[in-house]
Amino acid sequence: MASFNKRLLVAILLLLISLAIQISDGEMEQWCVADEQTPDNELQAATDWACGKGGADCSKIQLNQACFWPNTTKDHASYAFNSYFQKFKNSGGSCYFNGAAIVTDLDPSYNSCQYEFIP
Ligand SMILES: *[C@@H]1O[C@H](CO)[C@@H](O)[C@H](O)[C@H]1NC(C)=O
Repeated sequence: MASFNKRLLVAILLLLISLAIQISDGEMEQWCVADEQTPDNELQAATDWACGKGGADCSKIQLNQACFWPNTTKDHASYAFNSYFQKFKNSGGSCYFNGAAIVTDLDPSYNSCQYEFIP
């Protein structure tokens, strides 16, 4: 009886630990993308800033690069916003862009277009 209880206790502890790891992982993985409701002209202005003074890496949204297609203002904004956010979130950068951006916990990557995630 005593050894059964011990095993049960160990099993429950292992389960709780793996649950805790899953939950903390889930909370940590966040990307920054364009808010669907933001008009294209605002997204474009924010993208220009992110890719310029903001210091985001926008090489992948250039023609013939992995994230150029779909060639839409919204998709390119999402890539630029996320690049900026991942690069600077640990030093005070935020996913805001005058309200043009939102945080998501769904990885926006598709096909060969990988959205960066930095812990
Ligand atoms: C990409 O989209 C822009 C803006 O709509 C357009 O001017 C440009 O021609 C497009 N490029 C290609 C290769 O379709």
